[in-house]
Amino acid sequence: MKITIVGTGYVGLVTGTTFAEIGHDVLCIDNNAQKIEQLKKLEMPIYEDGLQEIVVRNVEAGRLHFSTSIEEGTDFSEVIFIAVGTPPGYKGEANMSYVESVGREVASHMTSYRLLVEKSTVIVNTNEQLKRSMNKYLKANIPFDIASNPEFLREGSAIKDAFNPDRIVVGVESEHAAALLRKIYEPIIKDSGCEYLQMNIASAELTKHASNSFLAMKISFVNAVSRICELTGADIGQVAHGMGLDKRIGEHFLNAGVGYGGSCFPKDVDAFVRMGDDLGYSLDILKQVQEINRAQKNHLMRKLQQELWVLEGKTVAVLGLAFKPGTDDIRESPSLYFVPQLLEAGSTLQLWDPIAADKFKELHADLDYRKDLMDCITDVDAVLILTDWPQIAELELGSVKKAMKCPIIIDGRNVFDPAAMKEHGFIYHSIGR
Ligand code: UDX
Ligand code: UDX
Repeated sequence: MKITIVGTGYVGLVTGTTFAEIGHDVLCIDNNAQKIEQLKKLEMPIYEDGLQEIVVRNVEAGRLHFSTSIEEGTDFSEVIFIAVGTPPGYKGEANMSYVESVGREVASHMTSYRLLVEKSTVIVNTNEQLKRSMNKYLKANIPFDIASNPEFLREGSAIKDAFNPDRIVVGVESEHAAALLRKIYEPIIKDSGCEYLQMNIASAELTKHASNSFLAMKISFVNAVSRICELTGADIGQVAHGMGLDKRIGEHFLNAGVGYGGSCFPKDVDAFVRMGDDLGYSLDILKQVQEINRAQKNHLMRKLQQELWVLEGKTVAVLGLAFKPGTDDIRESPSLYFVPQLLEAGSTLQLWDPIAADKFKELHADLDYRKDLMDCITDVDAVLILTDWPQIAELELGSVKKAMKCPIIIDGRNVFDPAAMKEHGFIYHSIGR
């Protein structure tokens, strides 16, 4: 089938590439001309494991194309996925202006039936607004459908997730739209054996918000329990393991730490809370989830401050700038909270991240970035771990101890075993242990 994807970011590019790989003919559109030029030269604008190889293969096979023109995208295919960003608006609500503008543009170019599929995370009932807006811009009385097909892939394992989803959710309101989407996903359903759930559009839109908020809640819950662990001598690792083996709870997403970040959880929980407020139901449970997440960062900062006593004039190695390992994405990353605060307090920083350093440099150009992990921790007064990159766990502790000026390690991701750290003579603080 021919498929158009508008928005070639983390979600759009991975989705488009996946569709090409399963045999569809895909045109990816983005209004960022530089991004499209890069992709035409087979350079990746983002880092995602395994992505480049599949992009190259499909471009060379003639199944994956790039353009900046929505008009071209509208002509190209009967099905148009919208995967533009929905960043926080000025009051924290999800900003629908990019989604709206894609709808308007498609409507103004349409000459026959089109199906617009919301891939971006949108507020419930965006489909109604999209319909109203598109109807105003149609040049003639041309039929169209809206569908919702929320994306659940995680950065860092996006390719794997795209081919092996836990489930595919589609919200539709016409048989034709249902048939088109089913046909698009048929190869993935067949290969992965995943559940394919068809529902009404509002339910599909809400499934995404409810899922992300629930996962964020799981993290905040375990972080809250970690604080009680610190006050009682319990170990959050053991508690979470004990909880997680109960199948009703599940062992995933129970890692205590500095809190969740990224382009989705902070923004989506916020948007869901606001949606509830607008609808007249206060999602207080999620307001608490946000509060716990904020408090976790302050808590880690206090640990560092207490150990160093005076931050001014101290050298701190910050390990990890990305919001999680396996990605170059720094959106809502804890590093964006710690780095400015430490600089303001007068500390000198040495920064390390194997992939996200270039993205961080776009915001903080003049800092001391180290390519080598051991070099980064040499002669520092303290190490602050913010991302659980596997390279950190592989460090040889004896050499680390020798390289540091003072052996303080503040671990926001519980990378190391506290007993081993004690044995090596570190002053070690982690979360909930
Ligand atoms: C996606 C979803 O769209 C968002 O709703 C979800 O919450 C997170 O994942 P993501 O792919 O991560 O966003 O965002 P980004 O990498 O910023 O990609 C969006 C792309 O859309 C960018 O390449 C941007 O240039 C493009 N864009 C934006 C357009 O092509 N047209 C616009 O009008 C606006
Ligand atoms: C998330 C959802 O998982 C995905 O389904 C959705 O499509 C987009 O949002 P992503 O933001 O890429 O994916 O990463 P995820 O692996 O969910 O991690 C989000 C944040 O939570 C990271 O900052 C991570 O470090 C943190 N986290 C995750 C924890 O602190 N503890 C955990 O146990 C799991």
